[in-house]
Amino acid sequence: MKDWYKDWFSSELYLAVYNHRNDDDAEKLCRLILSSADLQKGAKILDAACGAGRHANRFSLLGFNVAGFDLSMTLLTEAVNTAKEKKLSTKFFCGDIRNVPLKSSFDLIVNLFTSFGYFESDEENFSFVKQSYSLLNKKGFYVLDYLNEKTLRKNLVAQSEKEVNGKRIIERREISGNRVVKEINVLCKNQNHKFFESVRLYSKDEIVEKAKSFGFVVQRIFGDYLGGEFDENSSNRLITVFRK
Ligand SMILES: C[S@@+](CC[C@H](N)C(=O)[O-])C[C@H]1O[C@@H](n2cnc3c(N)ncnc32)[C@H](O)[C@@H]1O
Repeated sequence: MKDWYKDWFSSELYLAVYNHRNDDDAEKLCRLILSSADLQKGAKILDAACGAGRHANRFSLLGFNVAGFDLSMTLLTEAVNTAKEKKLSTKFFCGDIRNVPLKSSFDLIVNLFTSFGYFESDEENFSFVKQSYSLLNKKGFYVLDYLNEKTLRKNLVAQSEKEVNGKRIIERREISGNRVVKEINVLCKNQNHKFFESVRLYSKDEIVEKAKSFGFVVQRIFGDYLGGEFDENSSNRLITVFRK
């Protein structure tokens, strides 16, 4: 299961399984982020692990100067095609979040929809949080949108099934040590495609303390995309707006 993220996110099937994570969902989160991060038009934004570019292209549409990177060429191709269709100037490039060859500075860096906690060591998982601090302009913002481990542990649905465009999708979830592991089976045209996800579970305090140790301060913590306050016992998300 090591390097599961390379197989899964380079599969065309990823977008079918997460079809509910669409432009509307991205629009809500971008609006929430901008309600906390007061940015001038033309401000520089970096979307780390941008996937198919739904947030990066939304920020471009709103008049910001946006770059996004990801490891998956499949998802980056989607991102580039959408930018072309919408005549947006978002710049996309391929890169690994553990070693991003960037020198320019940004006003806002975002890392959204649980694009965090994929690796074995804390050092690897937090390396981009640390790098973000140095990539930000003075008083710049870093936003991490991650799961709330407490409610995830409490409400874990062991198995669920859905049908998307003629594909049957069966997802099995379990807690294994300090990770949440999901097995995804996609049945289509008499074939079964199996993938895994494995995400390290960190508490709010662990994330906040680590980010503070790099120099960040916490500006706001939200518990959902509509701007509800974070409540460790009931929120689904942990959306932290850090400030340099
Ligand atoms: C859950 S998706 C979220 C994508 C996007 N942020 C969104 O909200 O639609 C996680 C993303 O992390 C990317 N990813 C996984 N490992 C990565 C790595 N080592 N470096 C850069 N991106 C990575 C995947 O390719 C995928 O696009």
